[in-house]
Amino acid sequence: MSDLKWWETAVIYQIYPRSYQDSNGDGIGDLQGIISRLDYIAGLGVDAIWISPFFKSPQKDFGYDVSDYCDINPEYGTLDDFDQMIAKVHDLGMKLMIDIVPAHCSDQHAWFQESRQSRDNPKADWFHWVDPLPDGSAPTNWLSFFGGRAWTFEPRRQQYYLHNFLPEQPNLNHANPDVRQAFVDIAKFWFDRGVDGFRLDAVHTINADSAPYQNNLANPDFVLGELPQQQQPFFRQLHDSAQLNQPSIQQFSEAYRACADSYEGDRYLMGELHGDDPIKASQTFTDTGRLHATYNFNLLAWDGLSVDGLKQAITSAVAAFNGTGRLSFAFSNHDVPRVGTRQLKNLGLTDAQRPAMQLLLLKLETCLIGSTCVYMGEELALSDVQDIPVDKMQDPWGIEFAPVFLGRDTCRTPMVWRKSEPNGGFSSANQTWLPVSAQHLDSAGLDEADRKGSVYNQFAEFLAWRKQQPAFMSANVISDITGGPRQIIFDRTSDQQTLRCCFDFDTLTATFEEV
Ligand code: NOJ
Repeated sequence: MSDLKWWETAVIYQIYPRSYQDSNGDGIGDLQGIISRLDYIAGLGVDAIWISPFFKSPQKDFGYDVSDYCDINPEYGTLDDFDQMIAKVHDLGMKLMIDIVPAHCSDQHAWFQESRQSRDNPKADWFHWVDPLPDGSAPTNWLSFFGGRAWTFEPRRQQYYLHNFLPEQPNLNHANPDVRQAFVDIAKFWFDRGVDGFRLDAVHTINADSAPYQNNLANPDFVLGELPQQQQPFFRQLHDSAQLNQPSIQQFSEAYRACADSYEGDRYLMGELHGDDPIKASQTFTDTGRLHATYNFNLLAWDGLSVDGLKQAITSAVAAFNGTGRLSFAFSNHDVPRVGTRQLKNLGLTDAQRPAMQLLLLKLETCLIGSTCVYMGEELALSDVQDIPVDKMQDPWGIEFAPVFLGRDTCRTPMVWRKSEPNGGFSSANQTWLPVSAQHLDSAGLDEADRKGSVYNQFAEFLAWRKQQPAFMSANVISDITGGPRQIIFDRTSDQQTLRCCFDFDTLTATFEEV
């Protein structure tokens, strides 16, 4: 039906591997566990799967601190398991995307272990090493996303190194061509194994400028937010002037695109990014010869959006990208509270309405232009888990600020599969890495897949219908975004069909009319 590439209309199902399915009883999800659930995912009718990092890692940031990009963390399995997994994903007619973290690695990576030893070893220039200022202080005023300074001192070199996240996540020096080549080699390793694309982590935090670095400017528009994480000094600065979204990053995106294009079969590059002006940054990153698309944060507001807020979020993204598939919308991921809880208050709804609201939001996002990332558990309308005891919390960001801010564990608890089984069927272990939530047991995955009329089944029926509509599948055009205070209405148009799509937040229904 369509001349569009698969990724321009794809519904992409995101798996957080630590929490999907444990196959060996250690309380931690793994690749064999994912393999055992692929039929469940395929049953939804999604086009692709994106798996968050499963590479070797000390797990300080649960996989986003990689110590070997070309091997699997032993608790998740082996490269043989990976090969079995990708073969089955492809047999089921889906694509597989994996999560590459190019901006930083783990401080346990051999590159950093060597680099930190001295100023003249072979990897000396693979990270951002800078002399202290004459008074001994850090080179710039840059702050880390996770709190504190973005610079940590290394006595052996008598220098500071840069880390935009944890001190255990040193930023790689992408001004060094050897670093860029190392990442192209990593891309080839996984493309050769058959992966169809990468979600590229935090590409705006790749640092590719050379010293001397400039200070960030003060943010003249800073207002103290209500949420604890908005009250961090990080938000008092503008970042795109110096620390983030450095123009030189595009050497990385161009090298990655050239690599992807050298393979057959539309290999796809989707960058996760933010910035002082995220739309502008997304446009820069997806300019000719760069990434195919970027991950759009407009619908991911931490404290949710009103109907009008949703409309504005859609309108501003569409204004920049209409007619293209260069963006991917999402309502949930492993970094924000689950949408099933987050959006209720903003939409004036009760918990009993959560399943109907979740289904409506799933339909809304999959009717927008570009691809959509659906986070595991959205198909079950799972709630956010806000009662994890502080001594069971795992996320370093949450631990830093608990109990006023709970961090990201609330959306990362293990998936449940059968209410009747221990740990909801996630694991046979006595203890799981994060507690299984009792509140999820009534919406266990396989139980819901068996139940007529469940969100899982209604979403699957909707996706099957969506695939038959030229307005969604053969063009990426939206027009006339309107609707009353409790409605979002727009037209999706292709040469063959115009569909008027109406999402009503009073009745919690979506209707479609050919016009
Ligand atoms: C974005 C990822 O989604 C998040 O989980 C991670 O902590 C940071 N990037 C750092 O890699």
